[in-house]
Amino acid sequence: MNKHIVLLLGLGILLSACGGNSNNSPDSTAEKEPSAAPAASEKGIGEIKSVTLNNPLKPDMVAKGQAIYDMKCAACHKLDDMRVVGPGWKGLTERRKPEWIMNMITNVEIMLDKDPAAQALLEECLMRMPNQNVSIGDARDILEFMYANDGKK
Ligand code: HEC
Repeated sequence: MNKHIVLLLGLGILLSACGGNSNNSPDSTAEKEPSAAPAASEKGIGEIKSVTLNNPLKPDMVAKGQAIYDMKCAACHKLDDMRVVGPGWKGLTERRKPEWIMNMITNVEIMLDKDPAAQALLEECLMRMPNQNVSIGDARDILEFMYANDGKK
């Protein structure tokens, strides 16, 4: 018990010493960068600020989403985790927030230019996903299909 308290106190002093120094040291802000990066790209950049998910999924939306996928996306995206031109979609809805996914679909140029997570994909895939002219309504149906693909009911 006592040991823990001493440890905590010691830690507190160490931390506050760092905090004190950092006030006038410009370098210290760099230490925060790794944890800040994912948060910045959580929802992505674009018109989609918040998405309400359906529980259970709506079968008609899933079907529409699948039809659009077959027509406009299947050439570059598989439904398993294999990368073809772009990343496979398996697990996508667990990796990304729904807002990010819809912004990626409807605002891909800006996302590739400015969003850190999209830029990281671009570095891996070495090709820019083309703008598919997908409306927000169609993107929402595709999202529904993506959840179905990930086994959500
Ligand atoms: C010509 C190939 C191509 C087509 C067609 C295409 N994409 Fe992509 N997509 C890519 C590439 C390549 C990436 C990776 C980012 C980059 O390099 O631009 C990507 C990334 C994505 C991502 C992010 C994946 C992840 O793992 O986070 C989503 C979501 C996405 N595409 C959705 C779509 C949808 C929806 C369609 C159809 C309407 C579509 N894409 C059509 C090439 C394509």
